[in-house]
Amino acid sequence: MSALLWIEKYRPKKLDEIINQDEVVSGLKNLLSSNVAEMPHLLFAGPPGTGKTTAALAFARELYGENWRDYILELNASDERGINVIREKVKVFSQYFTPSEAVPFKLVILDEADMMTSEAQTALRRIMELNARITRFILICNYLNRIISPIQSRTAIFRFKSLSPEDVKYYLKMICKKECLRCGDEVLTKIYEFSLGDMRRALNLLQSAATVSMGDVTIDVVENIVGKTSPELISKVIDMLRMGDFSRAKSTLYDFMSVSGIDSGEIIRLLYSELLAKNLMNAEVAEAMAEIEYRMQFSSNPEIQITALLAKLSLILSGGK
Ligand SMILES: Nc1ncnc2c1ncn2[C@@H]1O[C@H](COP(=O)(O)OP(=O)(O)OP(=O)(O)O)[C@@H](O)[C@H]1O
Ligand SMILES: [Mg+2]
Repeated sequence: MSALLWIEKYRPKKLDEIINQDEVVSGLKNLLSSNVAEMPHLLFAGPPGTGKTTAALAFARELYGENWRDYILELNASDERGINVIREKVKVFSQYFTPSEAVPFKLVILDEADMMTSEAQTALRRIMELNARITRFILICNYLNRIISPIQSRTAIFRFKSLSPEDVKYYLKMICKKECLRCGDEVLTKIYEFSLGDMRRALNLLQSAATVSMGDVTIDVVENIVGKTSPELISKVIDMLRMGDFSRAKSTLYDFMSVSGIDSGEIIRLLYSELLAKNLMNAEVAEAMAEIEYRMQFSSNPEIQITALLAKLSLILSGGK
């Protein structure tokens, strides 16, 4: 087995290989077949692991051909040290470039645009306008409602759907075949349940299971691995709380608890260590954690306590957004 991550090894290279995002794919192909120089900025929105980054890269390949990497700049809004860094990088990237018929513009792919504050998005909008002759932007986000309306109204919006169990299992089956893995239908169903429709997570889980299984993947192996990867999911739940998305955080956490069998005490311990790891432990958060720790001793319904904790963390971490 190669050491390459399967999410990279099997990332579709062509728009046509992307599963079950037909509207998005046909919209993008339309752009490619019309006067592409007139293309607007694009905004991709949808749940994690449904093909947004994949579609942006496949679009770039089809637009530029072999040397596509020379014409794209990939940025991550939440990794960068703020809007000034983005401004600088876009400036350097678009320097010395003259649009031609073959290459009418360069492409900036900006992931996690919804993690930017509205002030930063306002500045981003200006950067997009200033550079519009030379560059087009593909902005990527999970939550469309976190993107300021002046940006929404100036971009073509592409909505990515959640992937169904059939979609995910179909894709995993194809990979099992290529990797000479035996993996029963019930194991694939289990992987889907743990992945919550996120193909990245499903693929990573299958790859980890394959690494320890030597050919035969069983439910036991998958469950064991999920026990070890749960911090990753808790970290996502915390990100949702930071966005003020309490209801999604709650349903994600409860789905996970019901399929993984991890108990509420362990969930609180995981939340605590992930909050520490993410440097989010301030006085208010510590107080909320201490309170639930105390309350859990007397509670007959831990679910109510965890719901209350998530609601409180959501308020604190999102600044009441
Ligand atoms: N619709 C899809 N069809 C085929 N493969 C997919 C699809 N969606 C995701 N994948 C697989 O999952 C991996 C992750 O997908 P991708 O990076 O495009 O997700 P994303 O939507 O950008 O997620 P995020 O919001 O977390 O960045 C890809 O490498 C690809 O192998
Ligand atoms: Mg992505």
